[in-house]
Amino acid sequence: MKNIVILISGGGSNMAAIVRCAHRESWGKAHGAHIAAVISNRADAGGLAWAQGESIATEVLDHKRFASREAFDAELAAVIDRHQPALVVLAGFMRILTSGFVAHYHGRLLNIHPSLLPAFPGLHTHQRAIDAGCKFAGATVHQVTAELDHGPILEQAAVPVLPGDTADTLAARVLTQEHLIYPRAIAALLAQL
Ligand code: GAR
Repeated sequence: MKNIVILISGGGSNMAAIVRCAHRESWGKAHGAHIAAVISNRADAGGLAWAQGESIATEVLDHKRFASREAFDAELAAVIDRHQPALVVLAGFMRILTSGFVAHYHGRLLNIHPSLLPAFPGLHTHQRAIDAGCKFAGATVHQVTAELDHGPILEQAAVPVLPGDTADTLAARVLTQEHLIYPRAIAALLAQL
């Protein structure tokens, strides 16, 4: 079984899109894949209740309990590895990861970032795209490497930036595309594993 572990920090709409797609496309039969767990660094992440409603195992590991980034990442890896993951999927997981953690999951750690990378790594991507006068914005699914929001690109989707857009309206438009490209990228990768 190819176990998938999803990491979230918030609402988890990408996680939900992945889980729905896994059901719709029968990833169990098609790829021998199974969403094994959803892990959050925040107890108040809205996506946890949704995952529990889907009978997916959930865990919370509060980063504030740890003295260092290294200590948190080491415990996080221990929690993840109990599920023997073929893929670890960052879905709105708002933590900078240590190079040791990234190396441990080399080739099986994915992220979605709400910009057309390599433009706008980091935070506030939508406002920065608007401020720069971009005519298009979008989202990128990529393999995670030690450098933040870099790494081989697996999927991208572009949307127009419309007159009068705010960061919120643009984010909502981008998010609809995230929900399409992230499950698609994961399914493509599962087919290769
Ligand atoms: C998504 O837009 C995702 O691309 C972004 O956080 C949002 C999470 O939404 N991720 C990052 O900014 C990572 N640097 P969700 O919790 O509804 O999936």
